[in-house]
Amino acid sequence: MPSPGDLHRYFLNNGSKILHKWFHYFDIYERHFERFRDRPITMLEIGVFGGGSLEMCQSYFHPESRIVGLDINPKCKRFEGGNIEVHIGSQDDPNFLGKLVKKYKKFDIILDDGSHINSHVIKTFEALYEHVSSNGVYFVEDMHTSYWKDYGGGLKKEGTFIEFAKNHIDQLNAAHVPGDDYPVTEFTRTTNAIAFYDSVVVFEKRLQGTRQHAKTGPLKKTDL
Ligand SMILES: C[S@@+](CC[C@H](N)C(=O)[O-])C[C@H]1O[C@@H](n2cnc3c(N)ncnc32)[C@H](O)[C@@H]1O
Repeated sequence: MPSPGDLHRYFLNNGSKILHKWFHYFDIYERHFERFRDRPITMLEIGVFGGGSLEMCQSYFHPESRIVGLDINPKCKRFEGGNIEVHIGSQDDPNFLGKLVKKYKKFDIILDDGSHINSHVIKTFEALYEHVSSNGVYFVEDMHTSYWKDYGGGLKKEGTFIEFAKNHIDQLNAAHVPGDDYPVTEFTRTTNAIAFYDSVVVFEKRLQGTRQHAKTGPLKKTDL
């Protein structure tokens, strides 16, 4: 039976494949992934490494889910088995990502734990976000690299994933920007929330209708 804390428990008791995670990620995973547990989903994890994270997801999500891994290292192919499939290629190769999309159509969850190079993370998001299902989640972790020079990072530096994600806050609110200079985009129409945590950014999709508001309560004519 699924219960809160399952992922963290799995991690702490893991005696199987190598798994490397920051402790504070588990609360964030549970918050955004829990609602997917009761049905088969398709999940893509970018960055397979020792295969432990794919196996953790396999145990956490519905047994008929498809757990898909992507890694540049051909040795990761050995972690395929059961409902885990692994594809070898680079996350910054649009042709390779295009083939994945053709095969799987939509992903309910994408978890980017790959190269953590800022330009790659942005390129991957740009290629894959539209292929997240309409109630899905795009999860990017280890974004402390947005501040690290070796990964193309730097505080408030253009071209980092954190700056890219900050700009998406305006896109989320584009319907409220007066004038025609900042139009509503597909991102505005399909995104419900962006959540920022230490080193993690999560995009929650949900189709957005026209924004509406109302007043309720004991209104007087002068309140209208
Ligand atoms: C942080 S590890 C993944 C850890 C794994 N998700 C876990 O939780 O145990 C990063 C992985 O990304 C892979 N990687 C590095 N550059 C990549 C690229 N350009 N495209 C795809 N994968 C890449 C590495 O080979 C490595 O296995």
